[in-house]
Amino acid sequence: MNTASKIALVTGATRGIGFETVKQLAETGVHVLLAGRSRERAVEAALKLQSQGLPVEAIVLDVTDTATIAAAAKEIEQRHGRLDILVNNAGIFADDATKGVSGQSLDTWRTTFDTNLFGLIDTTQALLPLLRKSQAGRIVNVSSLLGSLSEHQNPASFIYEFKGVPSYNVSKSAVNAWAIHLAHELKDSGIKVNTIHPGYVKTEMNKAGDEQGGELEVADGARTSVRLALIDNDGPTGGYFYFDQVLPW
Ligand SMILES: NC(=O)c1ccc[n+]([C@@H]2O[C@H](COP(=O)([O-])OP(=O)(O)OC[C@H]3O[C@@H](n4cnc5c(N)ncnc54)[C@H](OP(=O)(O)O)[C@@H]3O)[C@@H](O)[C@H]2O)c1
Repeated sequence: MNTASKIALVTGATRGIGFETVKQLAETGVHVLLAGRSRERAVEAALKLQSQGLPVEAIVLDVTDTATIAAAAKEIEQRHGRLDILVNNAGIFADDATKGVSGQSLDTWRTTFDTNLFGLIDTTQALLPLLRKSQAGRIVNVSSLLGSLSEHQNPASFIYEFKGVPSYNVSKSAVNAWAIHLAHELKDSGIKVNTIHPGYVKTEMNKAGDEQGGELEVADGARTSVRLALIDNDGPTGGYFYFDQVLPW
């Protein structure tokens, strides 16, 4: 793919995997809109990359706030006229793992789904008209292996016992299901929709107090999103990936 003239937007990009995804896309020459729910944090993050000479600009987009999504869509339309790549990366982890599967409050379920599922759908729907104006639109949904129903049902899987954070896991299963449906609707449009597991990555999400959980460095955690964002026209759609590996839904 000729990346030099591409326009991308990455949600939840003020830190972690999203920030690194912006960096790696920009390093290939893609013009990247670094989206954050706080203008201050988005501008600060974008400045770090601009100071390295990378083509990055900040944009405000809170995936739980339809007005900010609409404003971002309008701004992109006016400034760029289209969008080539959307990386739905924003996500939260709100479960209290001490409460088990049946003990999470409905508030926790709603909060998690508002960001991880409904926010992702709202953002995608609002930006789809701009992706349709691209020669080769790409949508990457940052899910998790924890959303895989096949793995959760497989006693041999290492995530089999990882059921104590159900609102997070189920929100990602729902993202996977949504992605299959959207990829089907868009299968003849030229827009490719893929879903990824970034790996178990050393980010804020996996920090508990002073303990930094995670196995992969953030740079590696961004690689699967970047790969799928840059696939050619003969690349996959409707898939679920971790690096080059195809994951079971
Ligand atoms: N880390 C892992 O091991 C791992 C594994 C599997 C999947 N994932 C997925 O990877 C994605 C990125 O996670 P991460 O590990 O990089 O987490 P992180 O370091 O906690 O970063 C999350 C990002 O999402 C943003 N965000 C939260 N709510 C938002 C909202 N309503 N609107 C817009 N942005 C919002 C945060 O922005 P603020 O600065 O405003 O809070 C932050 O930039 C998530 O979807 C996560 O579920 C991560």
